[in-house]
Amino acid sequence: MTTDLLELEKIRLEVDKICAPWKGRPGNLIMVLHGVQNKYGYVPRMVSFEVAKYLEIPLARIYEVITFYNYFKLQPPGHHIVSVCLGTACYLKGSSKVLEATGHQLGIKAGESTPDKKCHLQVVRCLGCCGLAPVMTVGERVYSGVTPDRVPSILAEYKGVPR
Ligand code: FES
Repeated sequence: MTTDLLELEKIRLEVDKICAPWKGRPGNLIMVLHGVQNKYGYVPRMVSFEVAKYLEIPLARIYEVITFYNYFKLQPPGHHIVSVCLGTACYLKGSSKVLEATGHQLGIKAGESTPDKKCHLQVVRCLGCCGLAPVMTVGERVYSGVTPDRVPSILAEYKGVPR
């Protein structure tokens, strides 16, 4: 069995365990999601798929609940989404260099996560605050007027981010 299949088998067993007491009971999805988050610290996508199958509900229903209640998390704790804006205003003010510096600092390219899964780097097209260009965000926090040489100190604020 490949690692992926083993992993999937483990997830299925865990989902069976979490869902079994709640199958067919009203309001069960919230209780199941609590169980999932208690087990994993967040609600992993693969687990959501298996929960949807087990409870015979659309996956979209799960995401509706997760996004409605702030309590549920879609990312592992300590996981930072680092976004660099390459929209026109930011690009014209040098955000491609900011992206380069961020990728260099994290040791990954846009679209990748660090091997420890602490950070994911992505490119966005306009964050809606063009007056602050160039802009990058880490999680919910917005950094304005970012220059490549500021990137190391920005990332250093986040524990566990590679230096
Ligand atoms: S172009 Fe970057 S915030 Fe609008």
